Amino acid sequence: MILAADFNITKVERSKLNDIDLENIPFGKYFTDHMLEVDYENGEWKTVEIKPYQPLLLAPSTAALHYGQAIFEGIKAYKNPEGEPFIFRPHDNFIRFNISAERMQMPQLPEEIFMEGLRTLIELDKNWIPNKADHSLYIRPFMFSSDELIGVKPSEKYKFMIILSPTGPYYSTPMRIYVEEQYVRAVPGGVGYAKAAGNYGAAMFATAEARKKGYDQVLWTDAFEHKYVQECGTMNVFFIIGDTAITPDLGAGTILAGVTRDSVIVMLKEMGFKVEEKALSINDVIDAHKAGLLYEVFGTGTAATISLIKELRYKDYVMEFDVDRWKTAPEIKERLNQIRYGTAPDQFGWMFKV
Ligand code: COI
Repeated sequence: MILAADFNITKVERSKLNDIDLENIPFGKYFTDHMLEVDYENGEWKTVEIKPYQPLLLAPSTAALHYGQAIFEGIKAYKNPEGEPFIFRPHDNFIRFNISAERMQMPQLPEEIFMEGLRTLIELDKNWIPNKADHSLYIRPFMFSSDELIGVKPSEKYKFMIILSPTGPYYSTPMRIYVEEQYVRAVPGGVGYAKAAGNYGAAMFATAEARKKGYDQVLWTDAFEHKYVQECGTMNVFFIIGDTAITPDLGAGTILAGVTRDSVIVMLKEMGFKVEEKALSINDVIDAHKAGLLYEVFGTGTAATISLIKELRYKDYVMEFDVDRWKTAPEIKERLNQIRYGTAPDQFGWMFKV
């Protein structure tokens, strides 16, 4: 059992907090005073170091830079009205982190390093949690292979780190989405369900092409028929069709099991919706739109929270939505925020006290 008492903690002499306007921050640009770093070598995790945020010194031969054994997580911390810090469902991210590690042939991370590491780091940098609506402290745990060797094989050495970034909204306005039919994000048997760094790099070209056409993100479709919807940009996606909320199921291993996705499913059920996790074809979405039954489309993710989709384009068929009239997605966002910011009871036991 590894406890915080076993961590080596070196604090900054002077906090950078006063240099930053926490009320006015883009996503992922500023980092807090401290970071966590621990190495894996000879089959074991070494001493956890918490120290001032600083650059890493890496050999050019560092394996992750060449073959991409690299995984990460995204989690958020919030403050309640009393100013106490809470983290949203971090244990679910811990479980997913080790699922990603297994798929990428990386070592399992002990729960105490992840959970106790998070708690200790956030306790130290809790003043960095913004107080403003839609703002939070974004937590980025990550692991990469650190062998200094360019032979293609699983590394023997790894580094696990956690960095923290105070942040505002990721997508601030409703999005225009292009249904992708040429490029693919994930295939059955691939790594789509893992939070592997390469999934995000591999998505950038298609996203840039969609941007050139005036869209914010792509809606990925399956690799074989380009028919079944998968994820939307870096988010899971939900369609409210009639009295049913539908989101692609996780069965094919092509979809990331989002923690926000799971929370939204729980909340939709609680609000009286039928929720179906199933293969959903773009033709079914279009048929629902033609029948006037496609009420809302939105993305969910840690960074994005709930993002409304105001336009969906498939080939020449354009679906436009008057998002100002929507009820469900805004209500879920509001209720989720109330739980996160501690203004409503934590009825599902999602908030982890630091
Ligand atoms: C998240 O939602 O936390 C993500 O990982 C998406 C993106 C910022 C990479």
